[in-house]
Amino acid sequence: MDVVEMLRQTREKKNSRPITFSAPMVRYSTLPFRMLCHNHGCDVVFSPMIVAKGFNKSEQLRNIELQSDPLERPLLVQFASKDAEEFVTASEYVVNQCEGVNLNCGCPSKKVRKVGLGSALLDKPELIADIIKTSHSRLGEKQNFSVSAKIRILPDQGETIELCKRIEKMHSDFIIIHARNRFQKDHETPNYEMMSLIRDSIQIPIVANGSIFNQQDWELYKNKTRCEGVMSARGLLKNPGMFEGSTLTKPEYVQELWDLIKKHKASHSKYETTKKMFGRITNDLLNKNDRILLQQCKNEEQLKEFLSERDLLN
Ligand SMILES: Cc1cc2nc3c(=O)[nH]c(=O)nc-3n(C[C@H](O)[C@H](O)[C@H](O)COP(=O)(O)O)c2cc1C
Repeated sequence: MDVVEMLRQTREKKNSRPITFSAPMVRYSTLPFRMLCHNHGCDVVFSPMIVAKGFNKSEQLRNIELQSDPLERPLLVQFASKDAEEFVTASEYVVNQCEGVNLNCGCPSKKVRKVGLGSALLDKPELIADIIKTSHSRLGEKQNFSVSAKIRILPDQGETIELCKRIEKMHSDFIIIHARNRFQKDHETPNYEMMSLIRDSIQIPIVANGSIFNQQDWELYKNKTRCEGVMSARGLLKNPGMFEGSTLTKPEYVQELWDLIKKHKASHSKYETTKKMFGRITNDLLNKNDRILLQQCKNEEQLKEFLSERDLLN
């Protein structure tokens, strides 16, 4: 269950499948969704981004922000923070719940950047370095526990490479790279060339992220960047079995997700998010009219009835 070891072993074996990660996703990568991904080919699952400052405030908040289950592991927990002490404190709360912590340096949301978190950290490489270095020195002794960063590439090639080298030097166990800069939209083509240049510059394992929707996409990354891991967000929302190799989502995932949400109710209580998740997972199973009708379901009961009528739920 040592994620770093898993990544290293992949590097050593030629032609091996990269280690597969489900991405951190605010609101979506809750315990039920992570369990679904874990059951269908994701080797490592990720919590949503959690703001470390709030997490450190009270046990009540911690219980709301992070529910986990030994069955979903290996699990990595992502924190947004701009302070090394704060990040380490938050990490110490979760050391027994997961296999590692990750620093969010990529979130482009205005609200997040305004308070100096997420991709705002990309303007302060010295702060990223300080957080990683402090975490490594305080948590690095713990066996099977990783410290890592998730970044976006920078518009400037040289600065991107400098940043990755710096993160490596501070003993980040691996690095997750979303192959777009923070000004790019999700539909824009990932910068594979940049990923390849980064690969030539650092030795720590790389987890590549950006527009992975099927096997061809992750093989492209593997071939172009020799990455040890691949991570998907939107691809898994549409098809949680993607990393098992299935090109389209399967109707049975709908029932499985429903049952997991029921089982772990406390961690998935917002109806609007539940509806959106079912909207994504059924996207390829419903026609356009039905997709609109699904969005009109006002509550869980209506959603259940709607999905049952289409033979997607018992
Ligand atoms: C709904 C949603 C929520 C996201 N939340 C987070 C988050 O909490 N932390 C993070 O680092 N990235 C977050 N992201 C970005 C993804 O992790 C990922 O980097 C990005 O979507 C690119 O991957 P993709 O092309 O596979 O979607 C989110 C993306 C989506 C679609």
